[in-house]
Amino acid sequence: MRSVIDIVDLTTEELDGLIETAVDIIENPQKYSEICHGKKLATLFFEPSTRTRMSFEAAMYELGGNVISMTDAGSSSAAKGESVADTAKTVSCYADIIAMRHPKEGAAYVAAKAASIPVINAGDGGHCHPTQTLADLLTIYREKGGFNNLTVGLCGDLKFGRTVHSLINALSRYEKIKYVLISPEELKLPSYVKRDSIKSRNIPYIQTTELESVMPELDILYMTRVQRERFFNEEDYLRLKDSYILTPDKLQNAKKNLSIMHPLPRVNEISVSIDDDERACYFKQVLNGKYMRMALILKLLKEAGTI
Ligand code: CP
Repeated sequence: MRSVIDIVDLTTEELDGLIETAVDIIENPQKYSEICHGKKLATLFFEPSTRTRMSFEAAMYELGGNVISMTDAGSSSAAKGESVADTAKTVSCYADIIAMRHPKEGAAYVAAKAASIPVINAGDGGHCHPTQTLADLLTIYREKGGFNNLTVGLCGDLKFGRTVHSLINALSRYEKIKYVLISPEELKLPSYVKRDSIKSRNIPYIQTTELESVMPELDILYMTRVQRERFFNEEDYLRLKDSYILTPDKLQNAKKNLSIMHPLPRVNEISVSIDDDERACYFKQVLNGKYMRMALILKLLKEAGTI
């Protein structure tokens, strides 16, 4: 049974195919509005979410399907000690596809091994968040017309920011990408991500703690939240949380066609006064996430022979 746990589970051709489907959904929504009639998506969220859970649910409804949902692990049998594997086996009896978020790295993989229906990882700890990457890719595609020849600045918590790890893996497959990695020393990109997705492909990159000095080079600025929930020590979080706050004055030397992205939720990383700047793309990412999740649900249900 095909599941999507990590962005590496999708080939570059498949990523391009999902974008093509999403664009067709945007242009011809009626064509897709009954495809999943009679089918059910189960959303299992063991960790808080607004965008990912609601966009998966909106995606299934817009495909004509239905949704069953576990939004609070505390009110499920997980609170009595039921394992992720047993939960996945149980939900396989009720639904056709699962979208699952869990605080532990690897939990989605465990669920996929146990389930008899496709499982989509909606975020597992600090590891992966492949459908956020799909949202990011569609946004970049719609803003820039493609993925080649881009200088991409990634700023903030590059250590725990799972969306950053997945996005780097996806963008590294395209031509003439360059990365500018902007973070405090303590929140640098993990060496395994650098090794597997950047160095192994000889992709040029620089690491810096300074945002303003590199701003003029960037085609994309991907801001991230410092991930409080992944810190062992509240003192370290408080010291690092406001390392980068994007305000209009910091954009003075930025390109006119810079795309400012953020997976959201934001805390202080981007001033609300930037929301009306035409370069702000973060609420476009939210909407694009729904279209890409529709495309992914369709792909996995078709491959499973369910539709
Ligand atoms: N970007 C994202 O995953 O948002 P939520 O945590 O609200 O789902």
